[in-house]
Amino acid sequence: MGKISDRAKNMAESATLKMARLAGELKEQGKDIISLSLGEPDFNVPEYIKAAAKQAIDDNFSHYPPVPGYKDFREVICNKFKNENGLNYTPEQIVVSTGAKHSLMNIMLAVVNPGDEVVLPAPYWVSYIEMVKFAEGKPVIIDTSIETDFKITPEQLKGALSPKTKAFVFSNPCNPSGSSYTKEELSALVEVFKEHDCYIVSDEIYEYINFVEPNTSLGCFEEIKDRVITVNGVSKGFAMTGWRIGFIGAPLEVAKACAKVQGQFTSGANAIAQRASLVALRDKKDEVKKMRDVFLQRRDLLIELLSPIEGLKLNVPQGAFYLFPDVSGLLGKSANGKKINNVGELCEFLLEDCMVATTPGDAFGCPKNIRISYANSEEQLKEAAKRIKNSLGKLS
Ligand SMILES: Cc1ncc(COP(=O)(O)O)c(C=O)c1O
Repeated sequence: MGKISDRAKNMAESATLKMARLAGELKEQGKDIISLSLGEPDFNVPEYIKAAAKQAIDDNFSHYPPVPGYKDFREVICNKFKNENGLNYTPEQIVVSTGAKHSLMNIMLAVVNPGDEVVLPAPYWVSYIEMVKFAEGKPVIIDTSIETDFKITPEQLKGALSPKTKAFVFSNPCNPSGSSYTKEELSALVEVFKEHDCYIVSDEIYEYINFVEPNTSLGCFEEIKDRVITVNGVSKGFAMTGWRIGFIGAPLEVAKACAKVQGQFTSGANAIAQRASLVALRDKKDEVKKMRDVFLQRRDLLIELLSPIEGLKLNVPQGAFYLFPDVSGLLGKSANGKKINNVGELCEFLLEDCMVATTPGDAFGCPKNIRISYANSEEQLKEAAKRIKNSLGKLS
């Protein structure tokens, strides 16, 4: 008798983590791997945040923190939401968790009943769909393509929402496409949301890595603000992925339900990391903007290097740190006596042939695309582009 639950067995392994694992294993064997599969900034944590963490240890922040997070941290989060995003949440509406991933799982468990529909524009972040399924909800996918910069239209949204829709979930800026909706585009979507009584989960973890204009939070639209759950955290903007702090601002009933779920599963997030994150947000320094500027330079560099390569159809993403080229022109071709049938095989080919790790787009709901992260040094990006060009040139 198999002892593992169907729930665990049926869950897909995170494609991004799987790729990172494979690349890591090859690196350990001494292979010269360039990882463009990473979903994390390659920068170090700014010094003022490290100092705050050291201070927190000396100040003996060593006991269980309150389940939804320290009150003064939640106040700082409220101020951040108000001043930077135009969102009016009270500290009771904030829940701090062990990363935004944890925040999102809390939300799914708190709002999704078996059979509830959850609308996800594709490409979606890999974990959304598994979380919806784990909560026994039914994912409803809205397809997009590179031709529309992977953005949904109000008509598509209207077609996907139904009386069974419990929630809509998207990331803006988007992982993996890097798309960032303008205020006008969001406003047009709000006109549709107005007519449907569902929760709207706005994952803004890449907020600070936005190249066109300051990110617009969906929750700042008056007509729907009482139903918006805003997800954010310190992982991407402050290069603090390993510190594991995420947070939400949510309708009070949702915040309370999330805190209840969290209270049974994990309790409050790490005390030291919370104290440091409080300072990160409260005393935000230029470093955040500087990291964003470096990402922008790298984006432009990589687009310049990859654009001439036949078979890679690129757009210009406006945020995050990924390119998401359409590679459908390469599928069906062969190299080294092996046919490339799908994007998974294309990523495997790149890893084997030139030791560049990328991530197949099918895990994000886009089987024509691959994700290329530019959270890596210019030098490595240049070398990777050279290798990719050489390897893809072997396909015929
Ligand atoms: C869109 C999106 N949401 C949430 C997360 C999770 O962030 P955290 O590291 O804070 O759990 C990620 C991380 O890759 C992400 O890309």
